[in-house]
Amino acid sequence: MTVHYYTSSSLDGFIATDDHSLDWLLTQDIDDEGPMAYASFEKSIGALAMGASTFEWVMRHERGRWGYTQPTWVFTHRDLDLPPGADIRVVQGDVADVHPDMLAAAGGEDLWIVGGGDLAGQFADAGLLDEVWVQYAPVTLGSGAPLLPRALDLELLDVARNRAFLCGRYRVRRG
Ligand SMILES: NC(=O)c1ccc[n+]([C@@H]2O[C@H](COP(=O)([O-])OP(=O)(O)OC[C@H]3O[C@@H](n4cnc5c(N)ncnc54)[C@H](OP(=O)(O)O)[C@@H]3O)[C@@H](O)[C@H]2O)c1
Repeated sequence: MTVHYYTSSSLDGFIATDDHSLDWLLTQDIDDEGPMAYASFEKSIGALAMGASTFEWVMRHERGRWGYTQPTWVFTHRDLDLPPGADIRVVQGDVADVHPDMLAAAGGEDLWIVGGGDLAGQFADAGLLDEVWVQYAPVTLGSGAPLLPRALDLELLDVARNRAFLCGRYRVRRG
């Protein structure tokens, strides 16, 4: 069982603009069935975690429709409007307290930290982040939501080009 942080980023290390736009990303060319693309990655995922901003972006982008079939943990200190019928658990606090429930729900499959970067960092702080996958888009944003605001030592496991994207897969080295 592996805990992955899988995301796309600008070249200068931002996963969204300051106002949470992903327009710079969604206009890029990618082969959805190609190397390191979401379609093959997602097949091994048994449970998801995301922060409130990411959840709210998904809800705006999908116009309130929830597309994920896996159980999902959303971290927030607020009450959120949840889509009907979705398997979503709203939690707050230490990610280490939530991790055992995610593992149990994943049924032996992997966990995906969808974002943002600080939430992935919280899993890393707890020694629970195994891999980081980044699809680098050919843009710089100058500022925005950070990719992974921590000091981590990573080992490059794999690299690929998928059309416009430079894709890297890294293992998190632990102390
Ligand atoms: N490029 C990509 O592929 C990609 C991937 C994922 C996300 N994104 C985008 O990147 C942006 C990320 O936004 P973000 O940096 O604000 O991160 P985020 O993790 O999506 O949201 C941050 C919020 O999550 C809540 N939170 C985080 N940890 C918590 C904890 N331990 N306990 C309770 N609540 C916790 C807090 O919300 P409250 O204030 O409600 O407490 C916090 O303000 C979004 O726009 C998202 O759409 C892009």
